[in-house]
Amino acid sequence: MIAVILVGGFGTRLRPLTCTRPKQLLPLGNTTLIEYMIGRLAEQGFREIVLAIGYQPDALKEVLGEGEKLGVTIHYSLEDEPLGTAGPIRQAENYLRGSGRFLVLNGDIVSDMNYQQILDQHRSNQATASIALYRVCDPSRYGVVDITSEGQILAFIEKPSAGTAPSNLINAGCYVLEESVLDHIPLGRKVSIERETFPLLCEKGRVHGWEHKGLWIDTGTPASYLEANREILAASQVGSSITRPMKEYSEGKYVQCYRPYIIGRHTKIGDYCEIGPNVTLGRNVSIGANTRIRDAVILNDAEIGEGVVLKDTIIGQGAIIGNKIRLEKFQLVGDRATVYPGAIVPPGARINPDEDFR
Ligand code: GDD
Ligand code: MG
Repeated sequence: MIAVILVGGFGTRLRPLTCTRPKQLLPLGNTTLIEYMIGRLAEQGFREIVLAIGYQPDALKEVLGEGEKLGVTIHYSLEDEPLGTAGPIRQAENYLRGSGRFLVLNGDIVSDMNYQQILDQHRSNQATASIALYRVCDPSRYGVVDITSEGQILAFIEKPSAGTAPSNLINAGCYVLEESVLDHIPLGRKVSIERETFPLLCEKGRVHGWEHKGLWIDTGTPASYLEANREILAASQVGSSITRPMKEYSEGKYVQCYRPYIIGRHTKIGDYCEIGPNVTLGRNVSIGANTRIRDAVILNDAEIGEGVVLKDTIIGQGAIIGNKIRLEKFQLVGDRATVYPGAIVPPGARINPDEDFR
């Protein structure tokens, strides 16, 4: 079975980290979002993956190659211009024709979905398209469905204005599509599966919903990305909560770590730091004494000063954070930026890559 992953978005809400990489390459625990997604597909028997990409494709190719490390074959389908969420599926038709049906995934979702279940249900319903659904309290920032008690989707409404959603079952960004759906997607232009293809299929075909009830996170915002990092760290049971000299990281100094956390190779942590819970520290990071970090992701090669407090933040690769700086509530720092000691960082600040922030 073949799966298409849509990874062409710009990751706007995760800037400045996504100025320098697609969001799928941000770390999540000991992996990255895209490796996590492909790993789960491979575990469930998918051997061929089409990556529909546009934004910074070389970075993805460098990390994933042809998929050999993950046990799959990856085909790259490149877009010169963003083709939306259905256009890339039509563009990749050479890989998809002859398959009967295929799976499509939004490339920014962390979930423990069982793809076999949606496939089985799709077959028994003889559906044209099946959409994985997830129940949320506020559906307004998602695609929402109007669905019968038998599970047939009558209408699909993308991002309905507040108070107008027909249900609180949202599009979870995973579809099974019959090959015939390709004929309903115009070739060579931007097409939205949510705004064009699904509404059309609801009229002309049989669209069914399948409710997923486990873990589901759209990692598109800083808060939801950090939540996904937390879930993956917790699931991989990394870290240890005992106080001890952590020789491997800090040359015998005393550091308090709270699970879950992960610390990359060659990372050095100063005396009396508190790390965790929910912290991913990349490789070759240095952290000065008396610094506290929780609910945060620090990318490789960052230099964090002494007496720093980091909470609910993401620090880019090679960024330098001066002594006693406090970053929290989604103040984000891009790659190689410097935040100088004494700088007053306003709430919600996004410090650009290479910026000198004084
Ligand atoms: N190849 C390609 N080309 N991929 C794209 C493009 C494009 O032009 N535009 C967006 N994508 C990818 C994004 O990278 C992401 O993986 C996926 O398509 C969805 O785009 P988002 O920009 O993340 O959309 P959203 O989160 O606002 O809404 C979508 O996901 C929700 C669930 O998280 C919709 O599908 C909603 O209906 C859905 O509820
Ligand atoms: Mg999204």
